[in-house]
Amino acid sequence: MEIEQIKVGPMANLCYVLWEEGGGAVVIDPAWQPEAVDGFLSVKGLRPELLLLTHGHPDHANAASYFMKKYGGLALTLHSADAFLLDAGMEPVRFVGDGEELSAGRIRIRTLHTPGHTPGSVSYLAGGAVFTGDTLFVGQCGRADLPGSDPRELRRSLLKLAELPPDTAVYPGHSYNGSRSTIGAQKERNIFMKLAARGEAEFVKAAV
Ligand SMILES: [Fe+2]
Repeated sequence: MEIEQIKVGPMANLCYVLWEEGGGAVVIDPAWQPEAVDGFLSVKGLRPELLLLTHGHPDHANAASYFMKKYGGLALTLHSADAFLLDAGMEPVRFVGDGEELSAGRIRIRTLHTPGHTPGSVSYLAGGAVFTGDTLFVGQCGRADLPGSDPRELRRSLLKLAELPPDTAVYPGHSYNGSRSTIGAQKERNIFMKLAARGEAEFVKAAV
């Protein structure tokens, strides 16, 4: 599986295109500059079959309508607990839960419900990589003080991510301190991953 990371917008958001030679393309977190992402799809001759959101915040979703309009039949896929964050009229929508298998051609994706930043945050596992949205950044975790956030849930989600194989590549939703890491490196160096392992009280104190 190939991965293209495209930095978009004024908040260092990262949008992703996953594809397989010979079939299958996926767009994760379509936002800000749909023409940049769509230009990449055109150059590669790709038609997206899945449009995934790691969560419903507009800085990850504000170009979703562009892709749904251009590629008929493409449903915006997210966890139902984040539906309240979507703009009215964003349709069609497909809801996913935890542990679901999604496919696009030869690409296989497993959903991991990782709430805390938002109640419906999802990390997507595919081809030895995990796309963590605003749950886990390089050296940081997502904010837990927003409407719908829950620092206790965020801690549990970080612990869930920590169970993935250490060589799993981490692709975050913003490039705040870097744009790529591994689960093993984050367990070693990310203070929030360490605090999550130490206990709820310490984590919550640091995270909000
Ligand atoms: Fe967010």
